Amino acid sequence: MAPTLINASATLDASERVKSLLLRLHTNSLAQEEELNKPGGKLAELKALKEQCAAGDTAALASFQRQFDDLMRDKMIALEQDKALFVYHLCRTLSATRIIEAGTSFGLSTIYLALAVGQNATKLDPEHRKAAKVIATEFEPSKIALACQHWKEAGEEVEPWIELREGDLRQRLASDLPNEIDFVLFDIWTPMVMPTLRLLEPNLKKGAVIVADNVISSAYDYQDFHEYIAAHRNAYRTLVLPYSGGLELTVYDP
Ligand SMILES: C[S@@+](CC[C@H](N)C(=O)[O-])C[C@H]1O[C@@H](n2cnc3c(N)ncnc32)[C@H](O)[C@@H]1O
Repeated sequence: MAPTLINASATLDASERVKSLLLRLHTNSLAQEEELNKPGGKLAELKALKEQCAAGDTAALASFQRQFDDLMRDKMIALEQDKALFVYHLCRTLSATRIIEAGTSFGLSTIYLALAVGQNATKLDPEHRKAAKVIATEFEPSKIALACQHWKEAGEEVEPWIELREGDLRQRLASDLPNEIDFVLFDIWTPMVMPTLRLLEPNLKKGAVIVADNVISSAYDYQDFHEYIAAHRNAYRTLVLPYSGGLELTVYDP
């Protein structure tokens, strides 16, 4: 059964325009996912295909990835509302103003992150305020166009706080990162998580928080991330929160 959306009025500091945009986008995303997850649908077929790929069969895996990307081209796969509200409040609590979003899609979770950055930035002096931003990342041109449209519709509370890096984030986050990253959201195809963490790690501030979505439902694909965290226990503390699919909160504390 699809989760019920809550009225975010009491918990989110945003204009009615932004709140109704968020509600509309969450509603659309849930409807898409219900359709996508129907038993016997294309996604189920693809998951079965992936399970049949022998380990190390790069041609079969590449073919799976192509079909998966085709299927997902017009899908939001947005962060669920309860997780997005949690991430917003966490970023407010942390006073996060230098945020990286790995995986942007139609820009829904970005709106929550940008609201937090904009609100946190009011406490900064003008010089530091200039550096306050969410760096959003997306490689799918049709999704980029919709994300920009949504941020424009959200307006002044949101749009000025977003820097969009278009293209493969493994290239787009390879340079020009904030010196001290406060917060990272991993809401991306899981094979991208470790390569991205490796790029970001040198710039994570002590106490930076990383949130990763669906770590239980996609546990197999998060294996390299979990092995890395386990091997670097002196630098990372981590806890899986009981949201749908598992939402992992990791603190970088070397
Ligand atoms: C789960 S969706 C993100 C949803 C978004 N955070 C939200 O809540 O609205 C993951 C997105 O990551 C994008 N993506 C996957 N691999 C990527 C890559 N290598 N570089 C940039 N974007 C990528 C996909 O196109 C997809 O739109």
